Amino acid sequence: MRKTGKMSVPNGFLALIVVFIFIAGIATMLVSGHNISTGKQKNSTVSTSVPETDSTDILADIDSRAVSPNAFEEESNLPNGYRLITVLNEDIYKGLLILVNYQYESKIDGENLVNLFDNVTDSVGVKDNDLFINNSVIEPMNNLFDAFKEAKGSTTILISSAYRSKINQTHIYSNSVRDTGEKSTAYYVAVPGYSEHQTGYCFDTAAINYNGEMVELDGEGDFSWLSDNCGDYGFILRYPEDKTNITGIGYESWHFRYVGVPHSTFINKNKLCLEEYITGLQKYTLDNGGLLIDNGSQGKWVVFYVPKLEAFNNTDIPVPIDSEKTPYTVSGDNIGGFIVTVDVTKDPSNELISKATSNWQFDNSSIVIKDFVDYDPLNDTEDDSDSSENAVGDNNDDWEDDSFWDEYEDDEFEYVDYYDEYDGSYDGGDYAENYDENNYQ
Ligand code: DAL
Ligand code: ZN
Repeated sequence: MRKTGKMSVPNGFLALIVVFIFIAGIATMLVSGHNISTGKQKNSTVSTSVPETDSTDILADIDSRAVSPNAFEEESNLPNGYRLITVLNEDIYKGLLILVNYQYESKIDGENLVNLFDNVTDSVGVKDNDLFINNSVIEPMNNLFDAFKEAKGSTTILISSAYRSKINQTHIYSNSVRDTGEKSTAYYVAVPGYSEHQTGYCFDTAAINYNGEMVELDGEGDFSWLSDNCGDYGFILRYPEDKTNITGIGYESWHFRYVGVPHSTFINKNKLCLEEYITGLQKYTLDNGGLLIDNGSQGKWVVFYVPKLEAFNNTDIPVPIDSEKTPYTVSGDNIGGFIVTVDVTKDPSNELISKATSNWQFDNSSIVIKDFVDYDPLNDTEDDSDSSENAVGDNNDDWEDDSFWDEYEDDEFEYVDYYDEYDGSYDGGDYAENYDENNYQ
């Protein structure tokens, strides 16, 4: 049995406590009517089953843990209408708000993955039929691209990469070093283990140009709609142009990360990157008052941070008792605690609202700045021409340059033929594997 954090207690007494916790847990679940396994509604447009479990937060693991063993001592401090639940400290590595970057390794390896090709609507293409993503991303992603198609007509977009295992990232990394050099790789490719792609919460996009060729999504023209509006669908552009020293990655106009509303709208409106948001949230504890995010007709939320209890294996988290009226999610931050998001839209008298502030105050000085040494992406002079493994030629250009794609076009992609009459779907053909090997996004 898992440790509760209580130690040096006589055996008989311990057994009594365990029985009591069990009964209290069942009773609490019955009283609250809390059913966390319901998850998101299945999208009627998908062609295969998406698992019902909602991994957008870590609640799926919580039900069996019932109420906190410490709840009886701490409950008197809780806001009205709240109770304590217990989560394992190791759950800080799970959930849709985990921050994975060059400092914080991904401890998960793509949980609850579903096949993209089988589940997207015809508003977006998928590069090949073995791309996977966390199931919670499917529905919002379809909504995003349906809306894009509606707004911009038939402009064609492809999902070119999504979940990547650590091994897959290792191939991508070493191929990038081989083909573009170490500095360029450090600028655009995460070290294996530290790639957000390993979480399953993000995807890369590519576009089909007028010649039917696959090109990186540059975020310009029609495509700027995506970065301008993705927040309404729960997405952020993960590596903004003006935050490269914080994210540790160069500007990627093609890489989108799902964090969910209202986090996405708040991040985009305040021009933050995920590092700033997640680090900044740590000050918004329940004691200090949470962060109030008021999106008008879209809803109102209070977000607060709960640091993990270092002394124990588990942490008590205050959550609303009536989760029908006041839905909530819990996510780890992948650093040292949990982020609770309480939807107070239908609960205007919720005690948290009056204590929370909509004022974002964040001292950037605590942010770690990554030094890219002397790498200039627009003027890449790195010499990797003596690389003996450079099987595809001495491509010393930044891979983002069109020349990179030109060089690969003939012998690797063959997308021209496939997309001459592109209909929004693609099965990858014989070239999918080749492409994976050289896809550095
Ligand atoms: N290109 C992104 C940063 C990755 O390699 O995960
Ligand atoms: Zn990416």
